[in-house]
This record gives sequence, structure tokens and C-alpha cells, in this order.
Amino acid sequence: MTVQQIVLIGLSGVGKSTVGRALAERLGWPFIDTDDVITERERLTPAALITDRGEAPFREVEAAVIADIATRVPAVIATGGGAFLDARSRRALGERGYICYLDATESEIAARVRAGGNELHRPLLGEDAARLEERLAELDGERRPFYNHADLWVPMQERDAVDAAVRRILNGWAADAETRLASPSRLDRLASPEPARGPAAVVDTGQERYPIWVGAGELERLPERLRQLELTDRRVFLVSDASVIEQHGRTVAEALDTAGIAGASYVVPAGEASKSPRVAEELYRWLAEERAERRDLVLALGGGVVGDLAGFAAATYLRGMPLIQLPTSVLAMNDAAIGGKVAVDLPAGKNLVGAFHQPRAVISDVSTLRTLPRRAYNEGFAEVIKHALILDPILLKTLRGAATRLSSGDPDLELLTSVIARSSRLKALIVSSDPTEQGVRAILNYGHTIGHAVETVGGFERYLHGEAVAIGMTGEARLSAELGLVSREFVDEQSDLLRAYGLPTDAAGTDPAAVLAAMRLDKKIERGQFRFALLEGAGRAVVRGDVPPELVERVVRELVRG
Ligand SMILES: NC(=O)c1ccc[n+]([C@@H]2O[C@H](COP(=O)([O-])OP(=O)(O)OC[C@H]3O[C@@H](n4cnc5c(N)ncnc54)[C@H](O)[C@@H]3O)[C@@H](O)[C@H]2O)c1
Ligand SMILES: [Zn+2]
Repeated sequence: MTVQQIVLIGLSGVGKSTVGRALAERLGWPFIDTDDVITERERLTPAALITDRGEAPFREVEAAVIADIATRVPAVIATGGGAFLDARSRRALGERGYICYLDATESEIAARVRAGGNELHRPLLGEDAARLEERLAELDGERRPFYNHADLWVPMQERDAVDAAVRRILNGWAADAETRLASPSRLDRLASPEPARGPAAVVDTGQERYPIWVGAGELERLPERLRQLELTDRRVFLVSDASVIEQHGRTVAEALDTAGIAGASYVVPAGEASKSPRVAEELYRWLAEERAERRDLVLALGGGVVGDLAGFAAATYLRGMPLIQLPTSVLAMNDAAIGGKVAVDLPAGKNLVGAFHQPRAVISDVSTLRTLPRRAYNEGFAEVIKHALILDPILLKTLRGAATRLSSGDPDLELLTSVIARSSRLKALIVSSDPTEQGVRAILNYGHTIGHAVETVGGFERYLHGEAVAIGMTGEARLSAELGLVSREFVDEQSDLLRAYGLPTDAAGTDPAAVLAAMRLDKKIERGQFRFALLEGAGRAVVRGDVPPELVERVVRELVRG
């Protein structure tokens, strides 16, 4: 291995020093923290330097220190959060270093900074502890486009992410570092003053890595995306449903035709009934008739039903074909299309036959949402609101402020793009941090323990999934309040928000005994104890297995009383 330097970048507080030390120990290389070197050289900490001399002079010192450190090999180098904004430093670090970007949400970083009690050493985060998340969000907005120049993205959302991060970095370094550093355009890209132009998010499970593009007009750009993915040299098999094909089939067909990409399409009836082994078999027959080959590409154009069905066929036909998700519903863009879970239903239950099959890309054209029926549109926002509640106080604020604009019949596409992009990034980060659902991914179940039961008791007709989740979140927020995790006002604010997006907050008229019985049958129950993802505050969730059954019963009874 000729690359003998690993560089860690990312926001202050994300864990660069901890990961850096652990890596250095594993490799037997020295560990260098640029902030420590600055402190030694100037006899003042970066914090004091910034306060004393101002940020610009500090950045000059920092750039000089980095120019020197970047020549040292072997070494693991952790950089100050702002160092990578300087084009000279980016280039210097890229010369010998394999650059790894450690990423977590603002609320997770804030929790770590607060737990570490060393806010004072991080002047750029500001004095006001309550504004920490907001300050981090500002920094994130400014820096992420440059951090995206990194060679490797390392999700750090899991509380004990250090070992996993070290493993990912070592794997990436062994597999990729040499090729990355040999790429002729890399240093120019690093040195350019332009931010990296990348997708809205990436999923990286450690095994598979794929982009999520979000924007208006993405379907028209499909051939360009296929070129970027190096997937133009094969036939495409487009699966969609009758409603979606009517609205958006032409856009896709024309884009593929113009680019000279050949293929075939199959349209299933709209609705959950198409997510069945029988329809999956129809797809197999069609693929066989069309002589689809293992390397050909399946495109799933539609909501979660098409994504799950076509994804399942792609996962199983010929033991797995490449798949691209083209989600057209809010729910599919934020949730179903990201994470690789694909399935069909059985009479005995939903999603009982399935697989993990990560797509090669998720391409979300938000302009398709204009034709989505109103109820489905609103329903999808339940999961967006959920992501904000469990992970992202900044997104929560946006959703509160923009409720009228986003829930109007004709939402502003730019705003919609930014909200869907942010929410997709949250799901991508969680899935990447925990691809096999062992840990942090469990917080995504917020609202779902009660929600699934309400959905089941309603026969999957009375309430759409997102509506049931909104009801479930209302119940689970009340549980959180009863356990002293959040205030009553918080619960009320959450209800106001859900209602602002046209979502229900009670299941009046539903039989409470049936809901409780359905909850006991749920797979989230462990040794007779309910497991709930609960809220600890705006943007923070925790999984609890110790919620008293009497309390659960009381809250469910309240919920169905309305
Ligand atoms: N795989 C996962 O991780 C995951 C996660 C959540 C949900 N799901 C699954 O997703 C499914 C629900 O997804 P959904 O809510 O998108 O349902 P859906 O696919 O049935 O779409 C809802 C309705 O809207 C129509 N539609 C979709 N996009 C449209 C558009 N742009 N214009 C006009 N009409 C449009 C569809 O034809 C359908 O009638 C469920 O089967 C659920 O199990 C999967
Ligand atoms: Zn859900």
C-alpha cells in the first residue's frame, strides 16, 4: 500500500480525534491533530487565536500548519472543522492523503459536544448552548459542499460509531485509496474554489454505495444519470403502475428514446394488491419472455408499491439484477426507495416475503409530486415529519414555518426539493450507519408500534400508512411525555404540526382492545415487553423497552376516544 496518510475531515465534535487515535493505533502510525500543532506553535489554542486575532488571521496560521503537516507520512491527520474550506489546504491534504469525511446530524453532534462538556474550546460553535444545533446547521450548510470532495464518506450517526468507522476507513483505504489518489483530475478538483457537485445524499452500507438525486426534472435527466452510473450499455426494464405511467411514462420513454437506450416496460394496476407473489410471477414471465439478462437494469417508476414489487423481482430474478428506484410519491422518496428493503405481501401479512436489495441509485423527481393525489401527498409527509422529530430540529423548524406552502395543492418545487433532499439524507444516514437494523435504525420506528396496529385494525383501508403513523406518533409522543422525556406543550405542538399537513391525530371509533391485541402480535415486541422509539426532545429519539403496559393501555384508550 503506497498511500500512507489518512486525513479526517468533518464538523467539530463529530469524532475526528477519537476515530483518528483509534486508526493510528491500528496502523501503528503517528496521529496528528492540526489543532494541537497550532496550539503548540502559537502557544494559543485555536479558540484563543480566533478570539484574539480574528478568524482570517487564524486561517492563515492554520493553512501554514497544514502545508507542513501534509508532507508527513505515515500519518493519520485530524483537521479542524474549517480547515477544508481553504483550497490550498484541500490540495495539500489531497497530495498524499486519503480523505475521509465523518458525518452525523447536527443534533447528534450537539449531543456529543454537550456530553463532552468542551464547548468552550469550540468558539465557532458559539456561546449560546441552546443555539448549538442552529450554529452547527449553518456550518454544515457552508462546509458540506466542500467536505463532499472527500474520497470516502463515513456515517457516524451511531452512538458507538468509532469501531465501525475505523473498519470502514481501513476497508476503503485498502480497496480504493491508491486508485483515488492516482486519478488525474482529483487534485484540480480539490484545489478548485468550487464546491463539489454531488447528489443530495449517498447511502454507503460498507458493502454497497449509491447516490440519491433529488430535484425537479430528474426524470428528463435520466440518460445523463445512467451515463454517470455507467449503466447505459444495457437494456432497461421499466416497471410502473397504471396511474403513474399515465402521468409520467412519456417523460421517461422520451428521455430513454432520445438517448438511444433500448428496453421494455410492464404496467401493473395501481394499489397495494399488486404487491403480491402472483404479480411478481407476472414480472418474472415478462422478463423471461424479453430475455432479460442478469446485467440488465430494472427501473421502478412509482410509489412504494412499485418500488417494493419491482425491487423484489429485481432482487430475485436471475438471483439479482441491478435496480434503480425512481420514486414518485413523497413516501417512496423519503422512505421506501431508500435502504434496500423490498417485499411482496401474503394473505397472512404485509411484506412477509422479501429481501435486502440495494438499488444502484435513487432518483427522485419532485415535479412528479404535482400529480400525486392529495391524500397520498399528505400521508407521505408523516414520515418526513417523523424524520424531523427524531433527528433534525432544523428540518422541524422548516416544516413548521412552511406548512401552508408545502401542504398547498401546488407546492413550490424549490422548497419541496430542499425538504425532500434533507429528509432523504436523514434516512440515508441512518441506513448507512446501521444497514442490518441492529441499532440506531430502530428509532425510525417512532410512531410505528401503535401506528402499525391502528393500520392493521383499520384493515389497511380506513387509514393509509402515513395517517396511521401520525396517530401512532401522537400516542408515542404522549408516552414520551408521561415518562417525563418531553413536555405536554411539545406533544401539542407535534399535533398542531401533523394537523397542518392534513394528518389525523386520533383514531376515534377504533376498538382499543383490537389495537392492543395487534400491538402484542407485532414483531417489535420482545419477551412480552413493548419496544418503543420515543422522543427525548426536538430531533432526539431513544429506544425504550421499559414502558409500563398500563401506561400503554391508557394512552391507546385516549387515542381512540379522540
Ligand atoms: N421498502 C420499504 O422500506 C418501505 C417503507 C415504507 C413503505 N413501504 C411500502 O410502500 C407502499 C406504500 O407506498 P406509497 O404510499 O407510495 O403507495 P403507492 O405506491 O400505492 O402509491 C400511492 C398511490 O399514488 C399513485 N401515485 C404514485 N405516485 C404518483 C404520481 N406521481 N402521480 C400520480 N399518482 C401517483 C399510485 O398509483 C397509487 O395509487 C406500501 O406497500 C409499503 O409497504 C416500503
Ligand atoms: Zn413507515
